[in-house]
Amino acid sequence: AVIGSGGREHAICYKLKQSSKIKKLVCIPGNAGTQKIAQNIKEDISNFDALYKIIINQNIDIVIVGPEQPLVEGLVDYLNQKNVRVFGPDKFASQLEGSKAFMKNLCKKNNIPTANFGIFDDFKEASNFIKKSGVPIVVKADGLAAGKGVSVCTSVKEALKNTKEILEGKFESSKRVILEEFLLGDELSYFCVIDKNSYHFFGSAQDHKRVGEGDAGPNTGGMGSYAPAPVMTPELVQEAEDRIIRPVLDEMRRMGIPYKGVLYCGLMFTEEGPKVVEFNARFGDPECQILMPLLTSDLVDVLEAACDGRLHEIQIQNSDAAAVCVVMASEGYPGAYEKGFTIDGLQAFADRDDIVIFHAGTAHRDGSFFTDSGRVLCVTAIGDDIESAVDKAYAAIDGITYDNVYFRRDIAHRALRRKD
Ligand code: AMP
Ligand code: GLY
Repeated sequence: AVIGSGGREHAICYKLKQSSKIKKLVCIPGNAGTQKIAQNIKEDISNFDALYKIIINQNIDIVIVGPEQPLVEGLVDYLNQKNVRVFGPDKFASQLEGSKAFMKNLCKKNNIPTANFGIFDDFKEASNFIKKSGVPIVVKADGLAAGKGVSVCTSVKEALKNTKEILEGKFESSKRVILEEFLLGDELSYFCVIDKNSYHFFGSAQDHKRVGEGDAGPNTGGMGSYAPAPVMTPELVQEAEDRIIRPVLDEMRRMGIPYKGVLYCGLMFTEEGPKVVEFNARFGDPECQILMPLLTSDLVDVLEAACDGRLHEIQIQNSDAAAVCVVMASEGYPGAYEKGFTIDGLQAFADRDDIVIFHAGTAHRDGSFFTDSGRVLCVTAIGDDIESAVDKAYAAIDGITYDNVYFRRDIAHRALRRKD
């Protein structure tokens, strides 16, 4: 069973479905895309008792949790207690994503490179820090905020305003604020799979978080992604592993709560080397929509080995092709937008191996698909190199139409620019 309903979960279902070991695949609650390859079962994913009932009734062997919310709420602890095999970190370990204060303190204690920071509950102290540090400064809510809790502020006034809002309770998860030094460099999403005994590098990708071309405008859930990331040399993979991944996992083990599941490390490659921007307790979205098509290993083997503490016995292999994912959204996103428009052109890609259309927010009625969310479709193309994958993705998008469509035309521009 796959828990979740976005493009990431569609990509996980797509990859699982390719395994000869899958007899039955359930997605809770799933979306109009997963419905074609899995049995969707509608349920509130915060209702653990109801999820457990489905897992028992459907004879599920193994559960993979896609999004962060149920992880941070303790779904893995709950299912472990019921002896259900589940892939994902428990509630304590998920704090690496769920509390930025937890993760920053852990980095500081273990000399893991990250932006200088302060943690504040009091406006006066926070405003002194902002005035002393100057701008740009990054203002972050401590807890989960659905991608809306971070702002890079270029004026003291803006930083004070955003800090005040967080301290006054703009986000339900926490009123605490983290103020951070602004890091300049290329960003990279670095993924490992981890069990109680060992870990493997799973892959890396770059995503585009800002809504506008040239990486301008507000942050979104993600407007596109690509791999391989040209910034990621084998030496940097090694440096990130030695200075960041291993020290984090060692510290979690010392605390008595070994990390299990996927660890997504958001890195910034600064002039001083890689620094941690964030940790996430799950696959990235839309990074997962390229990691899965590029994975040549059987995902079922990876999940089973991870759940059983046997990761050291297996290899994780990726294709050396390139992949690009362009998110087709609704005009207006991440602000207000209209939805409910008919989507045409999807059928043309049904049998293509090199173009996969993952659904993020669509609805299916009377044989037609409709737009149903801010992010609608994730168009993934596989090519020999980034350039050919980009060309294929945009050619595919030309064939898909709906009213109020918006997508960025410059996905992977940083990779293409590097080649010039
Ligand atoms: P986070 O949720 O902490 O990953 O922040 C969301 C996005 O804000 C990151 O992916 C970065 O693009 C940006 N960001 C966060 N922290 C910093 C920082 N210290 N310096 C520069 N950009 C940052
Ligand atoms: N790609 C950003 C995220 O999944 O958080």
